[in-house]
Amino acid sequence: MLDDIKKGLAGVVVDVTAISKVNPDTNSLLYRGYPVQQLAERCTAEEVAYLLWHGELPNAQQLAEFETLERSLRHLNPTVKDAMDALPLSAHPMDVVRTAVSVLGALDESLTTDGTWIDGDLTLERSIRMWAQLPAIVAYAQRRMRDQELVEPRDDLGYSANFLHMTFGEVPELVVVNAFDVSMILYAEHSFNASTFTARVIASTLSDVYSAVTGAIGALKGPLHGGANEAVMHVFREVGTADAATGWLADALAAKRKIMGFGHRVYKNGDSRVPTMKAALETLVAHYERPEVLDLYDALERAMDEAKGIKPNLDYPSGPAYDLMGFETEIFTPLFIAARVTGWTAHVREQLAANALIRPLSLYTGPDERAVPSRD
Ligand code: COA
Repeated sequence: MLDDIKKGLAGVVVDVTAISKVNPDTNSLLYRGYPVQQLAERCTAEEVAYLLWHGELPNAQQLAEFETLERSLRHLNPTVKDAMDALPLSAHPMDVVRTAVSVLGALDESLTTDGTWIDGDLTLERSIRMWAQLPAIVAYAQRRMRDQELVEPRDDLGYSANFLHMTFGEVPELVVVNAFDVSMILYAEHSFNASTFTARVIASTLSDVYSAVTGAIGALKGPLHGGANEAVMHVFREVGTADAATGWLADALAAKRKIMGFGHRVYKNGDSRVPTMKAALETLVAHYERPEVLDLYDALERAMDEAKGIKPNLDYPSGPAYDLMGFETEIFTPLFIAARVTGWTAHVREQLAANALIRPLSLYTGPDERAVPSRD
């Protein structure tokens, strides 16, 4: 029986999904059948969000309607802003954003009507609203850290350009907007990872989509999952320069440290998203004239390959890319939330459409049955 246990559910297929397919053998990732590399090259974050929710890419009219809807929902809800302002500046932005999403759920009056928690159409509406609000929430989470005022959205800008405008108060050059858009697409979906599975577990109890996303954010926070993109930046700072990479890595591995941004539960020969994100990082390095970032990136990757044969995951190029764009390090994982909310909520709807309560078993290893000592 002990031998039957799959710790961490490794290798266990728990359900079917039509949303994305990860094939570690061919090193590919498909969203609704489309290679993610092609989506990153040819589509916008808005088109990919539509694809994940609806199963098909939008035609011109569908896209125009979808973009109009997203643009109409961008203003940060004032009660959410008040809730964020009530939190101490010492709070990690992941906790701030998790709280903000939870507040959005508590403010949604439609949730109080019996039976609508799990309505598929309403779940989609709520998902789109959360997705459209998250740039405002994440941008403000960074601005309050810098003692800056909220920036109002602009409805003449696409999703990524507006996200950057709300964060920095200006729209950066196209090369930066494009690199950011690529990161949003690559982070949008990745089958039954820990946070998506968390969202599906919560949905399987017939809870609502805000609760599922709030729980998923909690799962994403950990450094073994989404928190790795923040942790990668700490590694880069700790290593310092390309010349120090091999020595630093030897010491870190001798100390049995896990090197953030390397390794993956599913991909054992490299993460299919890395080449696309690395190419985006290269454009940023050229734009900001920071070649030393790429030197360090390559040196540590080479050292890790030689020492352990372990390849980088998506967080390895996205961490330094977000740093170059000017994001606070603690905002990197909230950016992941803004992207992944599309995948999480697509999974919530899929779970609800063919639901079975997710409730596994465990093998008890505690004390045998015994009597509670008498109090006499
Ligand atoms: N640094 C050092 N060693 C690593 C490693 C890393 N980043 N990733 C895997 N390994 C080692 C493990 O220690 C283990 O070695 P052992 O057999 O000598 O004990 C071996 O590689 C197998 O790894 P394992 O822990 O079984 O892989 P996993 O599938 O359980 O874990 C991760 C996958 C992602 C949790 C793991 O690679 C990790 O912790 N990476 C760093 C965090 C990170 O970047 N997370 C983002 C993931 S997208």
